[in-house]
Amino acid sequence: MDIFEKLLKHMGPIGEHSNRAHGYFAFPKLEGEIGPRMNFRGNEKIVWSLNNYLGLANHPEVRATDAKAAADYGLASPMGARMMSGNTNYHEKLEKELSDYMGKEDTTLLNYGYQGIMSSIDAICNRRDVIVYDAECHASIIDGLRLHQGHRYVFKHNDIDDLEKQLKRAEELSKTNGGGILVITEGVFGMAGDQGKLKEIAALKDKYEFRFLVDDAHGFGTMGKTGAGTGEEQGVQDKIDLVFNTFAKSGASIGAFISGDKAIINYLRYNSRSQIFAKSIPLPLVIGHLKRVELMRKHPEMKAKLWENVNKLQKGLRDRGFDIGQTNSPVTPIYLQGDIPEATAMCLDLRENYNIFCSIVVYPVIPKGQIIYRLIPTAAHGDEDIELTLEAFTQTKAKLDKKEYKVAEIPMV
Ligand SMILES: Cc1ncc(COP(=O)(O)O)c(C=O)c1O
Repeated sequence: MDIFEKLLKHMGPIGEHSNRAHGYFAFPKLEGEIGPRMNFRGNEKIVWSLNNYLGLANHPEVRATDAKAAADYGLASPMGARMMSGNTNYHEKLEKELSDYMGKEDTTLLNYGYQGIMSSIDAICNRRDVIVYDAECHASIIDGLRLHQGHRYVFKHNDIDDLEKQLKRAEELSKTNGGGILVITEGVFGMAGDQGKLKEIAALKDKYEFRFLVDDAHGFGTMGKTGAGTGEEQGVQDKIDLVFNTFAKSGASIGAFISGDKAIINYLRYNSRSQIFAKSIPLPLVIGHLKRVELMRKHPEMKAKLWENVNKLQKGLRDRGFDIGQTNSPVTPIYLQGDIPEATAMCLDLRENYNIFCSIVVYPVIPKGQIIYRLIPTAAHGDEDIELTLEAFTQTKAKLDKKEYKVAEIPMV
């Protein structure tokens, strides 16, 4: 049998809608400078789907630094993996700056967040170890678990009683096998916006022996007094053994890093397969990251402005009766009920007639009958953006409630 045959029969859960969705709901093209207003199919939209939390993507100093570094070094430099020929003083300087920011002894850069966290998990754990992880962890963590040849136990999302149950099982097994335990959760869950219960999990270290890895992709730059993340926010940064962050969100770039104790980070530096067998981050990105970290630390007003907008948007939605769940971060979900055609018809109305561009999540990512719109407020949004959006959602939700979006199938766009 041709191995490709099955791929042609079934495009996968999202791909099966591709003929109707492509270019609009899937793979849309937002054009113009990154910001709260961008062009989509030739018309200006208010954009709520970019993780440009601090508005750094278009910060003049960021743009100037990125451009100069690209002109000075080109995208090739340095060539090769860090370990072989791709190390520079700038890479090491950035690692030092990040360690200082994170309050950790050392940091190693990861050329992509996704592969970086997978490899970190892979490098830390052997077949005798047990991983205990939150059920709603990001796909990159789940793929890291797939590489793990030992046992793994999942705990119900943010459920500390269930975590304890799983820790007891893990403790027994690791004793028998002579391995250790790694607990993994996230600082801020990127769909629902609720924080991981880092404080409660860290407190369990008094009762159980485990190491604690936190993926703080959405917390970096947005949470904590200095923006160091959710560990800082909850006062337990020192109890987190390894904190993973990406530049792909607040950092408005690409690349990631993991911070922790010197000896452990050095181990990861020498043993993370996605880093030792892959090209290092190009210098323009590294130099650009140094500028971003400098701005994050020197200008707390960017984070203050982000939170001003977060509070306005979330309060506005709650006051208007919207269910935005348990978010306690900038990530702002709006929970509604409807089938997939209704959800897409509403999204189409929001985009075409109200000029609101935001992400929409439906089955199979979430259970059938649910719709989640996910809004990402940033420091760059203005009051008018928020007001227009609140009004647009109020009007379209009324139409949804009146079944005005009931259509037989996903509208053709
Ligand atoms: C929680 C979380 N972890 C890891 C990643 C992967 O990071 P990157 O985009 O830098 O590969 C993401 C990105 O979407 C994320 O949201």
